[in-house]
Amino acid sequence: MDVDTGIDDSLALLYLLASPEAEIAGIAATAGNVPAPRVAANNLAWLDVCRAPDIEVALGAAEPLAIPLRTTEDTHGPHGVGYAELPESERPLSARSAAQLWVDLVREDPGRIVGLCTGPLTNLALALRLEPELPRLLRRLVIMGGAFNHPGNTTPTNEWNVHVDPEAAKEVFDAFSSAPPDRRPIVCALDITETIEMRPEHLALLAERAGSQPVEVVSETDPPEARSAGSNPIVRYLTDAVRFYFDFHRHYDQGYLAHMHDPFAAAVALDPALARLRPATVDVELTGALTRATTVADWAGMWGREPNADIVIGTDPAEFFDRMITRVGDFAMEVYPPAAPKDA
Ligand code: RIB
Ligand code: CA
Repeated sequence: MDVDTGIDDSLALLYLLASPEAEIAGIAATAGNVPAPRVAANNLAWLDVCRAPDIEVALGAAEPLAIPLRTTEDTHGPHGVGYAELPESERPLSARSAAQLWVDLVREDPGRIVGLCTGPLTNLALALRLEPELPRLLRRLVIMGGAFNHPGNTTPTNEWNVHVDPEAAKEVFDAFSSAPPDRRPIVCALDITETIEMRPEHLALLAERAGSQPVEVVSETDPPEARSAGSNPIVRYLTDAVRFYFDFHRHYDQGYLAHMHDPFAAAVALDPALARLRPATVDVELTGALTRATTVADWAGMWGREPNADIVIGTDPAEFFDRMITRVGDFAMEVYPPAAPKDA
């Protein structure tokens, strides 16, 4: 996982921790929603909350490849996990960089690792500079990022992860231009991730599945200082995190909901059959005065270049939410079993 945790990045981590078929080989902390050290601390803290085994968390570059870092605490909260106040972890950071982690893991296990990027592509680009063979050493790459036939969420045409580091995104898509068709990155862009709309009812269903009490239905009338009283810590912190995202989406007139960009990409990484794909040649605008960091898809070979991406063009949001609620709810209950009812 290469993440910029992040409220929805947190859900991607929980989804993978909750999925028996997933083994997290390592976590690369990329600067984006919040600075890289905060991203790393958030992941270590979530691993504590989830009583997870030791998983290597490696610190990424402090800045994007070519421009100063821009963060977005107004979207993800002062620490990047919304209203959640996760206890700081004592777990140690990896001694290696995020880029070195990428390179070492794919060299140790050629053809077996699925890379999942839910933040800017800075550290993957740095890894590709260290190891140009990386596209052929990965089993597959899944990227949450970009917007194609769909408005941007940061400027009118670009999406946050690409906006933070467009040079990195271009280097990644260019590097995969020579990858064989079954190694093309699967791209989960806003076109599809903005159809994955979490609502308060989904959180309540997850709390119920986890046996957390009380089952809370958060609402836009809840004050910012409200905090979940759920008995299950994973549900409690998750509720506090996502409620901030609900407030953010409502503030920008998108409704009291939250787009689940990153956990959707995680679900696709585990099961590409969840997504309908279409090949295209993707490139990134770097010099446009109005369009810098816009991802452009050539679906019809107009540029005369081989496809370098499989773009997700369809999915079933209900199926995704069913999987997420079932997996994360069951996981939360497993980690924190409800207290046995007191004898009457
Ligand atoms: O544009 C949405 C993406 O940007 C998500 O990954 C979110 O976490 C932010 O990183
Ligand atoms: Ca993210």
